[in-house]
This record gives sequence, C-alpha cells and structure tokens, in this order.
Amino acid sequence: MPSILVLNGPNLNMLGIREPGVYGSMTLQEIENRLKKHGESLGVELEFFQSNHEGALLDAIHAAYGKHDGILINPGALTHTSYALRDGLSSVGLPAVEVHLSNIHKREAFRHVSVTAAVAVGQISGFGALGYELGLTALLHHIRN
Ligand code: DQA
Repeated sequence: MPSILVLNGPNLNMLGIREPGVYGSMTLQEIENRLKKHGESLGVELEFFQSNHEGALLDAIHAAYGKHDGILINPGALTHTSYALRDGLSSVGLPAVEVHLSNIHKREAFRHVSVTAAVAVGQISGFGALGYELGLTALLHHIRN
C-alpha cells in the first residue's frame, strides 16, 4: 500500500478560527479526518504533520525519504518564500502535490508566486478543503501510473 506524508505549514493549525471567509470553517483536524477516509477508499496510508517552523517541516521532508511514496503539502506562507523547502523537496525527489485552500492567484500579488510549485507534480488552489482530496487523488494517480 502506498504511503503519503501530508504536510501543513505555518498557521494552518489555526484553521476554523483563521479568516473563515478565506479559508473556510473546517479545522485542520476535520480536514485530516476527511482525508483519512478518502485515503482509505483509495487504498493509501497517510501520515500527518503540521508545524509553524520551517526547519521542522524540512526535517519531516527529509525523513520521508525511503519511508513514504509521495508528499501532499500546503506550505502556507512558506510557499512564497522558502527556497529551503523547495530544495528539500527536490533533494528527496519524492513526487509532491501542492495544495492551497484559497486561490492564491486571485489574492495579493505576493501570493501569486510559489517557489515550491516548480518542484511539485502540480498545484491545486482555490477549492477549499476539497483541494486536499483532489490533491491526494492526483498524487496517487501520478504514483500509480
Ligand atoms: C494558503 C495560502 C497562503 O498564501 C497562506 O499564507 C496560507 C494558506 C492556502 O491554503 O490558501 O497560509 O497556503
């Protein structure tokens, strides 16, 4: 059974409280529970990790090498700034799909650039919590084909 690491970056632990008009009202725990059920239906194992610290996320990416088959990641604001996460993803070489709850391309200009997207298989942006399920489906399709 394939195994996927699901990573969430800074401030995503505040989902449910944080700007619900932008990010929806589901908590991260609710999103993860739903994704777990979706994963079961797809026949994939999931490990979840959230951190507000770039280095902790990077350590989790490195630890995924040899352990997981792919990475589903919402890097939060690090999407727009973190060359370290980008290099970490390309270092381990695991297929990754980038997810954003909001459509980053119709928000502030600084959100239009993703430094991590170039090392991902693809990006899903603007579909709220559903984006995680779409991303997982797409990542598995990529791995299995
Ligand atoms: C986000 C978009 C980012 O610009 C923002 O900094 C986040 C969340 C999203 O899921 O829409 O923290 O990644």
